[in-house]
Amino acid sequence: MGTSNILRSVSRKSIETGLHAFREKVTTSPFQSTIDHDIETALMQFDDAQGGRKNTADAEDKIVEIVKTTGYVIMPSAISGDVLEKMYSEFRSIIDAEEGDFCAVDRHDGAVCVRMKPFLRTNYSRQYPAIFAFYNADAFRSITRKYYTDCERGAEYVTEIFVHETPETSDPLSGKLHWDRAQTLKFWIYVDELPEEAGPMLIEPGSGPRNREIRVAEHVGKDKLVGGVDNVVEATRQETTVLAAPAGSIMIHDTDASHGASEVMPGYVRRIIRGHCRARK
Ligand SMILES: [Fe+2]
Repeated sequence: MGTSNILRSVSRKSIETGLHAFREKVTTSPFQSTIDHDIETALMQFDDAQGGRKNTADAEDKIVEIVKTTGYVIMPSAISGDVLEKMYSEFRSIIDAEEGDFCAVDRHDGAVCVRMKPFLRTNYSRQYPAIFAFYNADAFRSITRKYYTDCERGAEYVTEIFVHETPETSDPLSGKLHWDRAQTLKFWIYVDELPEEAGPMLIEPGSGPRNREIRVAEHVGKDKLVGGVDNVVEATRQETTVLAAPAGSIMIHDTDASHGASEVMPGYVRRIIRGHCRARK
C-alpha cells in the first residue's frame, strides 16, 4: 500500500474515537509514573544546560521557544533501562502487526511504516503500555498546549503515531529537504541507536520562521491547504544538522523547519516512532 493510500485507509470512526480518547486521558499504563519521571528528569537536565531556573514549567517554556525558532530539541538517552527495552519489544510487535481498524501497515523494499490512528485508546494502553505511557506523558501535553497557545481553538494532541523501521536505502521516503504544508509538532522516540549511518533526519536550524511566513501567506483567504506551493528547500550540507543520537533519545520537532530523511547505509537500520500534534481546525 502506498503512502497516500495508507493515509486514506484509517476510518472516520477511528478519528472520532481518537478525539474521545484525547478528551479523557487514560492513565492505566503501569509504566506511566516511571516514564513521566524520566521525561521530567530529561526536561530538567535540558533546562539546566540552558541555564534555566530548574523547574518544569520553565523547561517547557524554553523548549517551546527553541523549537519555534531553531526547529528542534534533542534530549539524549532520556529513556533507558527496562523501560526502553520494553518500548523496543513493543516496537517489534507493532512492526509485525497486521492491518486493523486503527492500524495501517505499509511494507516495501524491507521498510515498514505502521500508522496508528488514534493511538491514545484504551486497547493500546494494554497492548503497548510503555509506548502508550510515553505519548500519554503530562509534560508532552503541557508543551503542546503552550506551543499552540495562540491558536484560537487550541491543539489536537497526538492525533496519530507512525512507527518506522527502515533498512539500507539510498532513496529514503521524504528524502528531499522540505517543510510540511500542514504544520505539525512532533515527538519522536529513538527506540534504537541512531548514528549518522542509520539515516537520521537532517534539519536546517533556524529555518522555521522563514518557512512559516511562506506557509501562512499561502493560506490567506483560503479555508483549505494549498497543493501548489513549493515546499522544497535548497541548503548546503553545512547549513544542515544531522539529528543523530543514542537509543532512548527524545526529539521534538516543528515541521515548519526544513527537514528531510538521510541515507541509511548498508548494515544499518533506522528505528523510530513519531507522534503528531496539530492546531485544531
Ligand atoms: Fe516532512
